[in-house]
Amino acid sequence: MRVLNTPDHDLTRGCVLVPTMGALHGGHASLITAAARRARIEGVPSAVSIFVNPKQFNDPEDFNRYPDRLDDDLAMCERAGVDIVFHPPVDVVYPPGEDVTGDVIIPDIASKPGLEDTYRPGHFAGVCQVVSRLFDLCQPSAAVFGEKDWQQLQCVRTMSKLQGRDLQIIPAETVREASGLAMSSRNLNLTPEARAQAVAISQALFASSKMSTPEQGESLMHDILSKGGIEPEYAAIRPAETLMPVADPSLRPTVPCRALIAAKVGGVRLIDNAPWTPIAYA
Ligand code: PAJ
Repeated sequence: MRVLNTPDHDLTRGCVLVPTMGALHGGHASLITAAARRARIEGVPSAVSIFVNPKQFNDPEDFNRYPDRLDDDLAMCERAGVDIVFHPPVDVVYPPGEDVTGDVIIPDIASKPGLEDTYRPGHFAGVCQVVSRLFDLCQPSAAVFGEKDWQQLQCVRTMSKLQGRDLQIIPAETVREASGLAMSSRNLNLTPEARAQAVAISQALFASSKMSTPEQGESLMHDILSKGGIEPEYAAIRPAETLMPVADPSLRPTVPCRALIAAKVGGVRLIDNAPWTPIAYA
């Protein structure tokens, strides 16, 4: 395995890329294993980028306490059979004095009301900028993104299409702890009490599928979260692809939907989502 700070020809010959911010866990590992397998089949290198992108944090406190575990991360990549770890310094991603992200397309899906943009304004602009820059630097033929960050996955997919990139975006299912809690680098900042409390998030998501309208599903999610002592930023059911607010939440939707939650638990902001299929269709 090679660790690169700047791209070289070995990396840019059509790798399968997994962009990450490090502090790797089992969720990342499943993306990385999928990428390594696919790269082997295609005869191209597998690559993991590790870069904590300052542009996507709107809370400096969140950026400052983002976990840094490079040695563990490199060991995990080595074990997973990754060919290249791309670990650039800030000035390779954002060279001073150069406008490398000025013309990045930020798709509409980034700013659907009531979801991430309402609580983290500008977050997806930062994500689109860095992902576009990583694609320019690494020239991947495919890139793997987790469904755990559903709105991000849709943003990146749409951005890449609008930019006309010859690049396949591969989705990967959310990996959970035995309790149902979605794995996340931020879980490292949870106290044992907050970790136990956070289980209500996945419980609410899964329980909501037992209802037959978004209105009932959202109301059940709010009840379960509130019983668990959690006041969410949002607990919403939206069409999975557009993430538009549903026209009439009292009716059964005719398109696949997604239940999405964001909540601060013990001061740590967590997001999670799950497919939402109303019970009558199950
Ligand atoms: P990060 O949070 O490190 O996540 C890197 C990738 O791992 C993302 O595609 C994310 O959706 C996926 N992931 C995280 N937790 C997961 C889980 N429990 N199961 C499955 N996949 C999971 O997302 C980012 O970094 C950044 O925004 C990035 C895309 C790298 C741009 O800076």
